[in-house]
Amino acid sequence: VSGGSDPIGLCLAGSISPEVAVTRLLLGGSSPDRIARAVAERRDATSDRWQRLAGLVMARRDALDALSTLLSETGIDHAPSADDLPEAAVAQIGAMFDRAVSRAPEASVAAYSLGDPAILAAATGEIVEWLTHEDLIGADRDVLDLGCGIGRVSAALAPRCRSVLGLDVSPKMVMEARRRHGSEPGLRFDTSPGTGLDTVADASFDLVLAVDSFPYIVQAGGSVADRHLADAARVLRRGGALAILNLSYRDDPALDRADVARWASKGWCLASNGISPFALWDGTAFLLRRS
Ligand SMILES: C[S@@+](CC[C@H](N)C(=O)[O-])C[C@H]1O[C@@H](n2cnc3c(N)ncnc32)[C@H](O)[C@@H]1O
Repeated sequence: VSGGSDPIGLCLAGSISPEVAVTRLLLGGSSPDRIARAVAERRDATSDRWQRLAGLVMARRDALDALSTLLSETGIDHAPSADDLPEAAVAQIGAMFDRAVSRAPEASVAAYSLGDPAILAAATGEIVEWLTHEDLIGADRDVLDLGCGIGRVSAALAPRCRSVLGLDVSPKMVMEARRRHGSEPGLRFDTSPGTGLDTVADASFDLVLAVDSFPYIVQAGGSVADRHLADAARVLRRGGALAILNLSYRDDPALDRADVARWASKGWCLASNGISPFALWDGTAFLLRRS
């Protein structure tokens, strides 16, 4: 979830879900009290959208309080790294996710889930549906889930693919993914150095998927994103694809699209450049196919 102005207005207009609206408000620094007041001020009893938003703020008040505390205590933020060394920036991001997953696993991978496994499962369902629609998964596909977190997407894909490898820079995320899904067939989890895909063999995957992890790869600065692009090309088989769901939290869609177009010019075919295929999650999709 990225920032953006007037999340309540966007939600009432149907552009974003209530879950994303309240998360944007929390990330923008509003307290749960202030969110409740702001929603009440925009009262429109005839609007289904307003009723859903107001209902969520009332019914999930405890979850909003918990998420607000998680955000302030774990220091999850989307500020560009102040560190010149990509290795140090990546380590800092890994440590931030180590702290977050120990506190609240579901919210640490998707704040808009408000820590609720059912909301997270619905969001995962949207992603699986899109991957299916784009013909990116199947029984003959090996998938690399880059920045797999607690493994919720990997686990949803494993029964639909030949194999899934989830990689993450946060050792505690990998531990949690293994604890939840470690014994499921066709599914493995491992740590990643975070600066690239050095541990992955050439031409060994059909899909590299990054669900909301690329913003942190971009945030790490330096050449970390460029290196991941070059490595994705290396580890994919001919005809394989790289799907990036959310590229950055720079709040500059034109800059994101320009970066992807630049990457695509190095041996990729650009299939989607910043579309919004989801209803619950506000993730933006970028799809590059090996040409
Ligand atoms: C918002 S969470 C999303 C997790 C998972 N993809 C999901 O959607 O449930 C971002 C994840 O990316 C991981 N991450 C951040 N930078 C990374 C990097 N350079 N390499 C690998 N993983 C990274 C974090 O540790 C975290 O688990």
